[in-house]
Amino acid sequence: MKKPEDNLKNHNLKKLEGQKIFLTGATGGIGSETAITLSHHNVQLILHGRKQKKLDKLKKQLENPEKTILLKADFSNLTSVQKISREIKEKTEKLDGLINNAGIYYRGKKTAKNGLEYTFTVNHLAPALITQELKPLLQKTKEPTIINVASEAHRGTKKLALNEVENPENGWKAYSRSKLYNITYTKKLARQNENTTYKAVHPGAVAGTRLFRNLPTPLDKITQIPKHLPMPFITKTPEAAATIINAYLDQKNPTGTYYDKFKPKKPSKTARNPMNQNKLWNYTQEKIEKTTQT
Ligand SMILES: NC(=O)c1ccc[n+]([C@@H]2O[C@H](COP(=O)([O-])OP(=O)(O)OC[C@H]3O[C@@H](n4cnc5c(N)ncnc54)[C@H](OP(=O)(O)O)[C@@H]3O)[C@@H](O)[C@H]2O)c1
Repeated sequence: MKKPEDNLKNHNLKKLEGQKIFLTGATGGIGSETAITLSHHNVQLILHGRKQKKLDKLKKQLENPEKTILLKADFSNLTSVQKISREIKEKTEKLDGLINNAGIYYRGKKTAKNGLEYTFTVNHLAPALITQELKPLLQKTKEPTIINVASEAHRGTKKLALNEVENPENGWKAYSRSKLYNITYTKKLARQNENTTYKAVHPGAVAGTRLFRNLPTPLDKITQIPKHLPMPFITKTPEAAATIINAYLDQKNPTGTYYDKFKPKKPSKTARNPMNQNKLWNYTQEKIEKTTQT
């Protein structure tokens, strides 16, 4: 049977050695697996989590804990997102990579600290702000790479519908829309022709993560079952982590590529439309400017 690391055998994993990578949502299923895998390849990690206890626990599982920087922030508070981004700029002279992995599925209606819709803020505005803040630092390195962890769930939203952001019909619509925006935004950034590579990746339908913790039981329990059972259509966390590392290292496919697990795939028409990309860009800038300090 294929092992998760077999998916990376076409890459020169030595390239990771000594790289400095900032990974968000490192205390969760896919994120912690990615952090642990990267630490085995001597990556200097800057890891984000929402809770200090979880970050401390994760640190114990890393290969080079002494080299790791841990940062805590709730992404529903953009001031806190800005604070950790600025901390990174103060603490480090270089950054090779950024992996925007943190994300949430939230079932009910909720407003973030900035007064905007919760899922939109955590899943789209926060990574957009981090990218904006850290771009100058990343661009000091030769081949900076930014990975946005998106989802095939983006196909559940047919139109960009920025006018619906504040009033999603339900949690699923809010989640699906935020993942559509992750890909649309990646495409827009890639069109800017900078010396930076932007990729988006769907890591699979992943078993045993806490993404759907907010679903009513027993659904939450059901999403945990495949961790223990062989199910061919379900991805396990080591393989999901490998999809992210594959996108990070892959040089065969250009900036702006969206991957369904390991393979490049056309995202939805809505995400590929340059007019939508521009509209989303302007909307995002407006919301960030309104809700953060310069
Ligand atoms: N699981 C899947 O099947 C699947 C499929 C496609 C795409 N994805 C994407 O993969 C990424 C990782 O998801 P996962 O399945 O590993 O979920 P997870 O186990 O719930 O991990 C999510 C990570 O994001 C953090 N996070 C959640 N809300 C946050 C907030 N408000 N502020 C800051 N950090 C927050 C979590 O922190 P805590 O540990 O404190 O909760 C955790 O570190 C997400 O972007 C998700 O959309 C997942």
